[in-house]
Amino acid sequence: MKTGTVITFVNQKGGVGKSTTVFITAIELIKKHYSVLVIDLDPQATLTGVCGDISNKITVRDWLNNDNLKVEELIQKTSLGFDIIPANPFMELTENELINTVGQYKILNEKIKEIKKNYNFILIDCRPTLGILTKSGLFASDFLVIPVKPEIASVMGVEVLINTLVQIEKYDNKEFNIAGILLTMVNSRTTSYKDIKDYLVSVFGKINTKIFDTSIRNSVKCSDSFGEGKTIDEKSAVGIDYKDFVEELLKVVL
Ligand SMILES: Nc1ncnc2c1ncn2[C@@H]1O[C@H](COP(=O)(O)OP(=O)(O)OP(=O)(O)O)[C@@H](O)[C@H]1O
Ligand SMILES: [Mg+2]
Repeated sequence: MKTGTVITFVNQKGGVGKSTTVFITAIELIKKHYSVLVIDLDPQATLTGVCGDISNKITVRDWLNNDNLKVEELIQKTSLGFDIIPANPFMELTENELINTVGQYKILNEKIKEIKKNYNFILIDCRPTLGILTKSGLFASDFLVIPVKPEIASVMGVEVLINTLVQIEKYDNKEFNIAGILLTMVNSRTTSYKDIKDYLVSVFGKINTKIFDTSIRNSVKCSDSFGEGKTIDEKSAVGIDYKDFVEELLKVVL
């Protein structure tokens, strides 16, 4: 089985379902017998927080700053079957610590190479800004997933994100591969959802960016599952949405 595929979940807009999607995708991949590592790149540490009793004293910040750190000290097991490199609020300091370092946001990519052989998939959860931590996640990616809520502000955010990708591509010799844009927290009965999906298809379809056929419904089952750090009810509508999304994602990334 192929190892080391890095999928980064990114949108500098906050609260669009990035962490929820990483969490449920990790569980779905585990159910399919893939080995998964999740990297929490967000100092808010939301994802780390729902993963149970994880000590989060050692984070990506230490990894980036310390060449002698052993990965065994960094990577922790969760009771959900995937491993995690946790986050904590001190990671905020990374944004300034690396500001004068040459190739600052390429370091994570180099470090990740050491552990790629140990996992089929490495899923990276980004914070809602486009600073060094997020750019590190972007640069380390093989594929990007962009979760968006069906609102105009979120859609405009995607355009800003894509401009950033174009800049990095231009100056840093990196080619991004967008697996797709994923609509989340959707109330499919509203016309705004349909209008926004059409708009996304018209704008991003033109630049060959896929919009996932599957959208994730707005459901309290989803926020409950994530909030409690539990597997989502497989038979619920949103559980089925996520299962379909992961199938679609695998078709792109495998
Ligand atoms: N499909 C959904 N239906 C209902 N609520 C959802 C759904 N997906 C996520 N939520 C809820 O929306 C909130 C934001 O989700 P989440 O934390 O995943 O977003 P995020 O993009 O990671 O946010 P941030 O940018 O702050 O990191 C959470 O309370 C989560 O439980
Ligand atoms: Mg988040």
